[in-house]
Amino acid sequence: MSEFVLRARGLEKSFSQGPDRVTVLTGVDLCVAAGERVAVIGRSGSGKSTLLHLLGGLDEPDAGEVWVGAENLTAASPAERAVLRNRHMGFVYQLHHLLPEFSALENVAMPLRLGGANRATASEQAREMLAAVDLEPRLQHRPAALSGGERQRVAVARALVGDPLIVLADEPTGNLDRDNARSVFDLMCRLSDDRGIGFVIVTHDDSMLDSMHRVLSLVDGQIR
Ligand SMILES: Nc1ncnc2c1ncn2[C@@H]1O[C@H](COP(=O)(O)OP(=O)(O)OP(=O)(O)O)[C@@H](O)[C@H]1O
Ligand SMILES: [Mg+2]
Repeated sequence: MSEFVLRARGLEKSFSQGPDRVTVLTGVDLCVAAGERVAVIGRSGSGKSTLLHLLGGLDEPDAGEVWVGAENLTAASPAERAVLRNRHMGFVYQLHHLLPEFSALENVAMPLRLGGANRATASEQAREMLAAVDLEPRLQHRPAALSGGERQRVAVARALVGDPLIVLADEPTGNLDRDNARSVFDLMCRLSDDRGIGFVIVTHDDSMLDSMHRVLSLVDGQIR
């Protein structure tokens, strides 16, 4: 056991594209402690999203391992991996990926329902989480009836609702104007402080880096 909520060792990944092979990651090591916020930066195409996919068990490395808490994500079967993701991890993307036909409350309750919580418990926890992101007045709104910043706050609420060990965020504020980006980012920092949740955040926005505990730069397939 370790105090790290996320560990990765020796991650390698390449993609074949017709006759070509694109090598993206050539040996990435990374540990994130509880409550720690780690930024990943690097030029376009340097492999930041690929790395997050591997860390989140959404894609498999060619070599190396990922551990979430005490569990080996890489050795897990696809079904086990889905359970580990649901129980221990949250995800935020540049585009919110909320389900359009469901209310904010239902969207946030969804991971809890998928994890087996009953409707009343899931709704209550989702409501509390939406209150924590200052959206209690918007519980019944569908995504189309929310502003861009509000949608992204719902996406943050959905990522954090089950008290995950770690949240992986790929340019979570990339689609927002400056003020909204700042408020969504501040919100993530507050929630990670309050709840001790680790964050790995890919960002192009240098103004966010001061609020991070560590900034890792991805260059030539490795962390510098
Ligand atoms: N499924 C795939 N098949 C083939 N090549 C891929 C695949 N996914 C990613 N790549 C390649 O891997 C490289 C890294 O892509 P990735 O999306 O991780 O970059 P990124 O650092 O997130 O860039 P950006 O800042 O533009 O989002 C790119 O050259 C991309 O073309
Ligand atoms: Mg990317």
